[in-house]
This record gives sequence, C-alpha cells and structure tokens, in this order.
Amino acid sequence: MRNKIVHPGADNFRYEIREIVDLAHKVEKMGVPIVWENIGDPVEKGEQVPDWIKQHIIKVLSENKTYSYSPSKGLLKAREYIAYERNIEGGIQINPDDILFFNGLGDAISMIYRNLNPNSRIIGPNPAYPTHSSAESAHADAPYITYRLNPYNGWQPDLEEMEQKIKEHPEISGILIINPDNPTGFVYEVDIMKQIVNLTRKYNLFLISDEIYSNLTYGDIEYKKLAAVIEDVPAIGMRGISKEFPWPGARCGWIEFYNRDKDKDFNSYTQALINSKMLEVCSTTLPQSVIPVIMSDPRYYPYLEKRCGEYKRRAEIVYSHFSKIPELIVNMPHGAFYMAVVFKNGVLTDTQKLPIENGQVRTFFADIIAREEVLDRRFTYNLLASTGICVVPLMSGFNSTYHGFRLTLLESDESKFTGTIKKLCESIKTYIYS
Ligand SMILES: Cc1ncc(COP(=O)(O)O)c(C=O)c1O
Repeated sequence: MRNKIVHPGADNFRYEIREIVDLAHKVEKMGVPIVWENIGDPVEKGEQVPDWIKQHIIKVLSENKTYSYSPSKGLLKAREYIAYERNIEGGIQINPDDILFFNGLGDAISMIYRNLNPNSRIIGPNPAYPTHSSAESAHADAPYITYRLNPYNGWQPDLEEMEQKIKEHPEISGILIINPDNPTGFVYEVDIMKQIVNLTRKYNLFLISDEIYSNLTYGDIEYKKLAAVIEDVPAIGMRGISKEFPWPGARCGWIEFYNRDKDKDFNSYTQALINSKMLEVCSTTLPQSVIPVIMSDPRYYPYLEKRCGEYKRRAEIVYSHFSKIPELIVNMPHGAFYMAVVFKNGVLTDTQKLPIENGQVRTFFADIIAREEVLDRRFTYNLLASTGICVVPLMSGFNSTYHGFRLTLLESDESKFTGTIKKLCESIKTYIYS
C-alpha cells in the first residue's frame, strides 16, 4: 500500500472468547471432543427457545411489513412498549425518542465509542467484557483505563480506585458498569450504584450501564436497572434480547438515553449516535416487531424465572466444588450465566503442565505452550489439550489483572455439567502440583 491503511488502534481489537475457538477446532479435528465453555450463547449450548416464543415470531414473519426497513431509531411500537409499558421500577420516565435500536449491543458498543471525541475516555471494570474494552481502547488508541472489581471482596467495585483514576485522568468523561457483570456474574447493590451515580455527578461525567443480563438475576441482591437510580445524571442504559429470549442471532439490542436535557454536550453526543444510525438506515426489523408481543406475554417472566433458577443451581454446583481448592478464589454470581474463577497470586508458574494423552495434540501444543508467557492462558491451553474443556483466560481474555478463567453456566445436562466441573477441579489440582 502506498499509505498506511491500518487504523492505529487496530491492534486493540481482540476477542479471545472466539479466538480460542480456532485452536479448539484444531484439537477437535485431532480426535479430542470439545466441551465448549467459552461462549455465552444459550442456544448454541442447547437451550430450547420456547415454542410460544417461536410461534409469535412465525406469526410476525408471515406479515409482509416485517420485510421492510424500520425507522432509524427503531419501530415506534417497540420503543413505546419499552418506554411506557415496561416496568422501570419507579425510576426516570423516558419517552420513545430516548430509545435507539441497534443490530445487537455489539453494534451499539462500537457506535458509542466510535462517536466519542478521541480525547474523551470511559473508565470501565477490570475484568472487562472485551467488546467494551477493545472498542474503547481502539477509539483512543491507548490502553483501557479500569477500576478493579475485587475478587477478594465478592467482586465489589473498588470505588476508591475509581475516584482516584477519575482525578488522575482528566480525560475521563464517563464511567461504564456492566450490571449484571460479564465475566463475574456480579450484581451491583443499589447503594453502590447510588455511590457511582454520585461520583458521576460530582465530576460532571456521564454513566453507561450495560444491562444485557438485567432480566437474568437470581441472587439475594436486589437488582435495579440504572433508570431506577439515575436521578438527574446524564446516562445511557443498554439492553438487548440476545440473552433473554434467548435470540443472539437476531442481532437486536437498544440503548436508552437518560437526562439528555440536563447537559448540552451529552445531548449533542446522543444526537451524533442517532445520526450515525441514520447513515446506516436502520436496524433489523423482525426482532423489534416481536419484542412487545413476547415481553408482554404472561409466560415471559415465569419463563425467565425458571431459567434463572437453573443458573443458580449450576452456580451452586460450581461453587461447592471450586471453593474446596484453597489456591482459588470463587464467588457466587447473582446474575448473568458466567463465573470467573481466580488463581491466587503466585499459584501459577511457567513450568506447570497437564498430561496430554493424544500424541498429535501434544506435538501441536508443545510449541504453543512453550511460547505462551501469560500464565492463565498457558493454563487454558493445557486444559484444552489435556481434557478438551475450552474456557477463556481472564487476564488476556478480559483485560484482567488477575489470573483465572471464565466458564459458563449454560450446560443443561446436569450430569454432564457436574462431570465437567469435577474434571476441571481435578485438572486444576494436577496442574498446580505438577
Ligand atoms: C456484557 C455484554 N454486552 C454486550 C454483549 C453483546 O450482545 P449482543 O449479542 O446484543 O451483541 C454481550 C455478549 O455476550 C455481553 O456479554
């Protein structure tokens, strides 16, 4: 090329959750069956979308207008349902104009950071969901700025560090929370959320809350969406149907603007997001058409409750096994369908190994493992090669300062799930003491 055509921030685009899949497929071809514990797709893991949801979709599919473009912000019916009929827990009242649909929240995330002034930064959690951290970091072409979720304290956010960083980095213009969180399953208590809202107000920032798992909570902690506690602070709430229906292949999510009228700059930023979506014409029409019908069906919330009960039960199984290993830190999740397991400091070394029975796999991984410097990634490669269990390392996969891995709570066959957890525990012990 006569000019450099690669964006300077391009190296920051990493999505290890899917990258590890390439390796796992190679292992599979060499004859080792894979236990896919890497990706948060309930359908891929065998969850059945209920027939009554499918019937609603089939009905809408048979209508001619479903095949047309929708308005750039999204179908009015869907936005009206979300703004007025959905219970927003006594919080701020938005109107349909405060809602903007996207082709999945992944699309919304990249649009949010792309439209931000390159000199403005968003501070986010560590561990971080990589779509947020990569997009933010690429937009600024600089390392992601984080506050710590503390595994030694039930994954509570370190608010002192958050404030300290906000003071140190005048370029920080916003705070991101993911609630319930991916990869930890942590749910923010209302009091903590209020403290974060207060910090946002104190430093004249705006707040983003990714709430894609907001209807998938099951712990003892009372869950509130940001809309319920935001008061007068400019903010964005992010929601979607990928995990709830679950229908990740629909590519449908939306954002909600709170208090656009409270800040001129924030208002211009939200307008830029709306204009950008207009340039793309619109988002997918079909899922928007069914959102009001499905969410208002009396079977919807009982269906979610049942799923949450299953996630809770699987979380208890994981907790009961992993909490017996003193070298690990494990916390019960209260929402979403993941658990992040942390190796205590100093537990992992660069000489530990697992036996790899399959000769072809052993040869294939010899070099990869020898070259790997990140200790938790090294563990996940050993695990994959030895057992076929595919988990995502925390440090490289989720921008974390802690070594560990994330697994999902999606396997619906309980004996298979328990078997995987037991095998994981045995492998961890063998690895640590090898
Ligand atoms: C926290 C979080 N936000 C956003 C997304 C992206 O969701 P979507 O399928 O709507 O693009 C995910 C997907 O795993 C997620 O975990």
